Amino acid sequence: MAALGGLLFGYDTAVVSGAIGFLKAFYNLSPFWQGWVASCALVGCIFGAACAGIVSDAIGRKKTLVLAAILFLVSAIGTALPKNLTMFIIFRVIGGIGVGVASMTSPMYIAEISPAKIRGRMVTFCQLAIVIGILASFFVNYFIATPHSQEWNINFGWRWMFGAEAVPAALFMILLFFVPESPRWIAKRGRHEKAFAILARAGGEEFARAELADIEDTIAHEEGSILQLFRPGFRLAIMVGVLLAVFSQCTGINVFMYYGPEIFKKIGMGTNAALLNTVFIGSINLIFTFVAIKLIDKAGRKILLNVGLIGMAICLFAMSFATMYQKPILMLIFVLGYIASFAGSMGPVTWTMLAEIFPNRVRGRAMSIATFSLWTVNYIVSQTFPMMNENRVLVEKFHNAFPFWIYGSLCILAIVFSFKYIPETKGKTLEEIERFWISSTTKRRNSS
Ligand code: BGC
Repeated sequence: MAALGGLLFGYDTAVVSGAIGFLKAFYNLSPFWQGWVASCALVGCIFGAACAGIVSDAIGRKKTLVLAAILFLVSAIGTALPKNLTMFIIFRVIGGIGVGVASMTSPMYIAEISPAKIRGRMVTFCQLAIVIGILASFFVNYFIATPHSQEWNINFGWRWMFGAEAVPAALFMILLFFVPESPRWIAKRGRHEKAFAILARAGGEEFARAELADIEDTIAHEEGSILQLFRPGFRLAIMVGVLLAVFSQCTGINVFMYYGPEIFKKIGMGTNAALLNTVFIGSINLIFTFVAIKLIDKAGRKILLNVGLIGMAICLFAMSFATMYQKPILMLIFVLGYIASFAGSMGPVTWTMLAEIFPNRVRGRAMSIATFSLWTVNYIVSQTFPMMNENRVLVEKFHNAFPFWIYGSLCILAIVFSFKYIPETKGKTLEEIERFWISSTTKRRNSS
């Protein structure tokens, strides 16, 4: 149920790809306004992610998720029936705030309620929900637009695309009433019996006893202040979290999610082929997320990430050549290879690790810092791609391949970072991970 937050996250961010053309015609948008209408929700995401930590540490994870559901619902109705463009943008930003809030609270809640040995798989369900949401939006857009005339789509099509989100948003809100609060958040508030009952429901009484003792022990050693994050042990954790979030975005994934059809058109595909290939992108994204679900707790996070990043880098460089030499089929193959590599590694590993590497008491706020960085870089990448892609000098000099060279080079940096700094967290309880940071810093100090 908590993973449904991911579904709305996926739907809300990708739906605009199909609606933007009709919005452009309806509101007579200039290129600047097109860019702003397409990416204004991401500004809401940045704000939502920044606030969600403080809110979820204060009122609890469950109530924060309910808040996100309300924001989704209000946004779905508001963007379907706006009075003017300003109102549309305001409601889009409100939905974006919901995405920002859900993007950190859903995985965090799942990590906090799951037994260690299946935690990776459980949080990966969140990524699965994101990619289902993205694919659903591609299909919904397709089914709404195709049976109707261009004129109908310009007047009404985009309204239905945004409005359709009200259904999963309402369902999310209703279902949330059936989930318990996070046991770790409750224990932190001193309500140990309640925490015990919830843990027992998740993994049995024996599991609950051991887990609660461990939670209590770690909480006793925590300060609870955000400054704790900047102490030697956790400084490393926050650096790893922020860099992981940044690399997950600056290696280009959302360029393919938000601008897929435009990329294909640029190397000579027709509109229909471009739209169909976007559905392939969504499907491969979904299929390879299942591969990650299967492997994340067995092979581990680090190996998945290393292999996936190498695949992404190879495909990005190969894409650069395919673009330069105008080879649409090869381009499609490498784009799909890149999506498969991301979906089987970087996508799920990022959300899983962000949800598990921070100390209990400040997890909400720490995750906020990391997700804030993630959405900020997402916004920068989405805003700059058309500028790079349409800049005449860059296009002539690099034969349309400039953005892919950039993302490929950043991927190399991500590989170095992953090999050097990513710890293996598979099978460890959240409390063991917390102790690991402190001991690893002590070891680094002693050896230097
Ligand atoms: C990323 C999103 C991206 C999605 C693609 C997620 O892990 O955070 O930005 O759109 O994966 O599947």
